[in-house]
Amino acid sequence: MHKKEESQDHYFTAHPKSRAEFGIIHTHLRGRPFKFLTASGVFSKKRVDLGTRVLIASMLLPEEGMVLDIGCGYGAVGITAAAFNPDLRVIMVDVNKRAVWLARQNIEINNVSNAEVRRGRLYEPIKDLTFNCILSNPPISAGMETVKAIIAEAPRHMTNKAFFQMVVRSKIGGKRLSMLLESTFGNFNVLTRKSGYRVLISEKQ
Ligand SMILES: C[S@@+](CC[C@H](N)C(=O)[O-])C[C@H]1O[C@@H](n2cnc3c(N)ncnc32)[C@H](O)[C@@H]1O
Repeated sequence: MHKKEESQDHYFTAHPKSRAEFGIIHTHLRGRPFKFLTASGVFSKKRVDLGTRVLIASMLLPEEGMVLDIGCGYGAVGITAAAFNPDLRVIMVDVNKRAVWLARQNIEINNVSNAEVRRGRLYEPIKDLTFNCILSNPPISAGMETVKAIIAEAPRHMTNKAFFQMVVRSKIGGKRLSMLLESTFGNFNVLTRKSGYRVLISEKQ
């Protein structure tokens, strides 16, 4: 491989090789203050991504039970869900080692006691568990095959009546992914449309 290519990390790289340059984000999500440690080599280092914000603002959370944040990055979605409902048990999964480390730090920084992070690909780290809610800001840059797998493999990790919620850019795959949700779950709705993003929602029946 060319030397320059070797040093390039994508946010979905499992083992980022670049030296971590850290940052801190102070922000409000659903009206509450949060603080996130971030670093180079992970998704949206400088600010909480707009799509992430749209998902967090509109996500429907169960009153109790298990929530999965798949592709958690440094943890904004899962940590917000856990902070908003202490009766939930939130599991966050990411393939990127640095993102997993940051998400664990951020659980502590935000004093959240009902969330944990597991490292691995797709649903492998939670293969024996089922969830009442799955949340995803999917890694479009990693390729549509990964995004499609997040949708296609979701139902076997969901309880009946559980919700799958995914934020997508309306212009990048919005229609294709809606159709995939429809064929996978037999139903889908647009929960929110905002700033060029859509939050798609399907129920396991
Ligand atoms: C668009 S980012 C969203 C991160 C975070 N949820 C947020 O909204 O800030 C997608 C995340 O999925 C992770 N990812 C990529 N491929 C994955 C895979 N096969 N299994 C699990 N996570 C993956 C990436 O490392 C990245 O952190």
